[in-house]
Amino acid sequence: MAHLEITALGACYGKVAVLDDVSLSVERGELVGIVGPSGSGKSTLLRALVGLVPPTAGTVVLDGHAVDYANALSLRAMRDQTAIVFQQYNFFQNMNVLENLTVAPVKIRGRNRSETEKEARALLARVGLADKEKAYPDELSGGQQQRVAIARALVLKPAVVLLDEVTAALDPELVRDVMDVVQDLARDGITMLLVSHEMGFIREAAHRVVMMDAGRVVEVGPPAQIFGDAQQERTRAFMSRIIRH
Ligand SMILES: Nc1ncnc2c1ncn2[C@@H]1O[C@H](COP(=O)(O)OP(=O)(O)OP(=O)(O)O)[C@@H](O)[C@H]1O
Ligand SMILES: [Mg+2]
Repeated sequence: MAHLEITALGACYGKVAVLDDVSLSVERGELVGIVGPSGSGKSTLLRALVGLVPPTAGTVVLDGHAVDYANALSLRAMRDQTAIVFQQYNFFQNMNVLENLTVAPVKIRGRNRSETEKEARALLARVGLADKEKAYPDELSGGQQQRVAIARALVLKPAVVLLDEVTAALDPELVRDVMDVVQDLARDGITMLLVSHEMGFIREAAHRVVMMDAGRVVEVGPPAQIFGDAQQERTRAFMSRIIRH
């Protein structure tokens, strides 16, 4: 059975439908790239999965369990397994990097402090920031902050990681650093949905790509199909615009 099974998902902002009949089946350890024009619903899809925008139709089944978005316990169970990383980091500016990584697991989840610190240090090493645990967020570059944000999401030991434009604010040289981390996680078998405008990276790293437009899934396929041999005219039009610019 798929790790994450999304069926006919719908979501609205007020009366405006922004996700319509979105279905996607994601295998464990799969890295799925999500592309599409601005406003097509990519962020909303990630937000709906974790209930930040309540789905109005359809079902989400994670690891065999249907998520009941109206039920706090069911929603918490889903969120315990899922980390979402946005472009905004929302660090605690008065805490150093290590404290930012450990505060939620220790204070909210009641994890053992010294064990959590050990795990946090291992994750910082993994994202290439072992020497920054005592630094404060404003002492880090954008790319370093983004890597800390990813490490912070991983401290919670998610099975599913949702990444929304995590490289959009970065200098081109820093994009590679963050992408290396993402690719590493994929090799470890974490299931990931990656919304990105970095077509080169999606093409290289994603197992499959979802093309969205106007709140719907237009086409799903391997990168070679979506980028080189799209079956839908809408996908081809989008790709030709991207490639020209
Ligand atoms: N908080 C909100 N309130 C009302 N409408 C919203 C809200 N957030 C997004 N929308 C609308 O929902 C639609 C989908 O937005 P969404 O942010 O999911 O697009 P996106 O594909 O992530 O775009 P981008 O590539 O620009 O990030 C858009 O029409 C947008 O205007
Ligand atoms: Mg978005």
